[in-house]
Amino acid sequence: MIKRILSMTLALLVVSQASAQYQPTPENIEARKEFSDSRFGVFIHWGIYSMFAQGEWYLQNAGLDHREYAKAADAFYPHRFNAKEWVSTIKAAGAKYICFTTRHHDSFSMWDTEQSEYNIVDATPFKRDVLRELAKECRKQGIRLHLYYSHADWARDEYPRGRTAKTVTGRDSTRINWSEYYGFMNRQITELLTNYGEIGAIWFDGWWDHDEDATPFDWQLDEQYALVHRLQPSCLVANNHHQVPFEGEDIQIFERDLPGENEYGLSGQAISRLPLETCQTMNGMWGYKVIDQNYKSVETLIQYLVTAAGKGANLLLNVGPQPNGELPAAAVERLKAMGEWLAQNGETIYATEAGDIKPQPWGVTTRKGDRLFVHIFELDGEELLLPLECEVVEAVRFADREKVAFRTTDEGVVLTVGDIGDVEDFIVELRTR
Ligand code: GLC
Repeated sequence: MIKRILSMTLALLVVSQASAQYQPTPENIEARKEFSDSRFGVFIHWGIYSMFAQGEWYLQNAGLDHREYAKAADAFYPHRFNAKEWVSTIKAAGAKYICFTTRHHDSFSMWDTEQSEYNIVDATPFKRDVLRELAKECRKQGIRLHLYYSHADWARDEYPRGRTAKTVTGRDSTRINWSEYYGFMNRQITELLTNYGEIGAIWFDGWWDHDEDATPFDWQLDEQYALVHRLQPSCLVANNHHQVPFEGEDIQIFERDLPGENEYGLSGQAISRLPLETCQTMNGMWGYKVIDQNYKSVETLIQYLVTAAGKGANLLLNVGPQPNGELPAAAVERLKAMGEWLAQNGETIYATEAGDIKPQPWGVTTRKGDRLFVHIFELDGEELLLPLECEVVEAVRFADREKVAFRTTDEGVVLTVGDIGDVEDFIVELRTR
């Protein structure tokens, strides 16, 4: 008896140790580095919710009967969807990866899944596997594909309901069954990681649906993360839970705030040592919302990307395609301008680290080896004091390599920048020792 208890305890110990000690594989570590170096990705929120044109939370916000909502699928015919155009536009923006919503909280799958008929091939007259087309095009044009996948589900009977979608009707509560739902998700994840080539990351979302449960909800993430890593060892696991990363995750995500900031209210969590990513909307919503034309300016977007880099984080900038499959013109215009800027200045952003000085009211810094890039967004006067610990050996304007005068004082290095004019980002490159 004692022997049995002992061996059971030992087995438990081994299991808990196994889950507590996630060892990323060498290819995973390499993928993390490549991810960090890329600094800029584009998020795509697209699904049948786009047809209602009120954002991706419409089913829950309007408290609909999900069976009525589902009727939109039979009219979803995005005849202007063109994977090649999407990918070229996004590539030209200077983004290095695309994160695509495969299945959002509304339960609709945007690929040819065998696990549910409620998908773009079986439930719409369009009948095309848009994920297949997108994956193929990403491969062709050499841009990574990440997949968003919702843990929360507002329509499936088996999903144990959480704090959202309380007013959504049409579900049979007698059929709630976690293990059935968990199996469904894992089979879908297996399809995604088996049938669409190399996937850069699985981006989970919806954990927070059970963050107020009286007894902590067990999402069985360890096993699911292990499945992802088993199927594709280099695939990064991300989870938008707004907590410090859990065991088994490869990157840390922030929603609508840069690491260390919390204006929106979802980001009080500490910053880990994993690669960082902030996802942000270009207007105010993720999914297409017809009344929301409140697009951020090109200047704001560029400075946001630069500030993310200055904090050592990637920016995952969202676009919500229209119901016809086109990217909104306002978004395309901004992506184009960002691409033009990055074509000139990408050297100071890609494959950099957070700079020596943390973001300041005047701007930020990024570093690459012995080069420190000083990104000035606004300057009072013509000089800038940099409280640096390193020695500066040379200073030039990044744009035209013209020398910038500097002197060393007790407080640090003072650059004589001159008039920065009307630019989003005036960059001075320092060579340091
Ligand atoms: C939130 C929202 C979701 C969106 C996601 C993107 O978790 O629930 O609609 O997809 O953020 O960051």
